[in-house]
Amino acid sequence: MATSHRHDDHPEHPPHEHHQHEHPTHSDLAAALDLDAELVGDHLDDAATLIVEALGGPPARIVDLGAGTGSGTEALARRFPDATLLAVDSSPAMTETIDRRARAAGLTDRVTTVVADLDRGLPQMRRPDVIWAAMSLHHIADAGALLRSAATALGSEGVLVIVEMAGLPRFAPDDDAGLRALEDRCHAAAARAGWEALADWTTTIGDAGLEIARDRTIRVERADPAAQVSRYAVHWFSQFRHRLDEPAGMLSRADVELLDTLIDSAQPSSLHRRTDLRLVAERRVWIVRPIRADGGVE
Ligand SMILES: C[S@@+](CC[C@H](N)C(=O)[O-])C[C@H]1O[C@@H](n2cnc3c(N)ncnc32)[C@H](O)[C@@H]1O
Repeated sequence: MATSHRHDDHPEHPPHEHHQHEHPTHSDLAAALDLDAELVGDHLDDAATLIVEALGGPPARIVDLGAGTGSGTEALARRFPDATLLAVDSSPAMTETIDRRARAAGLTDRVTTVVADLDRGLPQMRRPDVIWAAMSLHHIADAGALLRSAATALGSEGVLVIVEMAGLPRFAPDDDAGLRALEDRCHAAAARAGWEALADWTTTIGDAGLEIARDRTIRVERADPAAQVSRYAVHWFSQFRHRLDEPAGMLSRADVELLDTLIDSAQPSSLHRRTDLRLVAERRVWIVRPIRADGGVE
């Protein structure tokens, strides 16, 4: 059974330092999502190619579930210029952001938004070819139920695309064994804490009566722009610092102090000052289809 953690993991948390008990504002959250999209968004090209292969051509109708700031909606709209897109999010501030983004990009004739809580089921949609759920399924209380209703809502031959992080991003350059070892300890602690980045939907997909047509892990590696990579690193190491220091023992006191130094812009060794970081991030993409009554994949 896949773990469905509803606690807030990255990249939803803001890219600046904050304590675990503070609630991120919409603009913090939006900034974190946009930074993530700027640096890791290239995986969307590969995901779009997988969609075309699965459908045998470009989709005409796409629904983006838990669309956030709409970076994915916009990327899909650009990649598929004849498609119409419906972006769904429970946050009106997010759908307003998507509307603004669509206006700025000249996409209002093809992109519409709806505020809907997916825990209460899917909003109305016109038999989409693609239902896209990127980094959003782990927010849903009953992911299996959502997958089942998505399968019913799809047009014939349509596919459901689920994207999640395939592990935590890394930043240590090859010649910084100390930072790499700290990353290893933080990642192990995050796994012990059950962070959602490690969610695997394979069993949930099968249990929902769906078949996996493709299961691909896409790797993104980049060092540029160095300032943004450094910002993203500070974001992640702040998460480690503030969310893995409790319960006591998740990270050692020495590691918590080291993390404090790394995320403090006033410290000479701060990640804020590094221009040599190398981001390696992975996204897992499942292309999923309903299984036909005759046992074949639709
Ligand atoms: C991590 S963001 C992902 C955004 C976007 N798909 C991306 O890849 O950047 C998750 C989004 O899911 C939305 N969300 C969380 N729970 C939801 C629910 N029950 N119904 C609809 N949207 C939800 C949040 O408001 C947030 O915008």
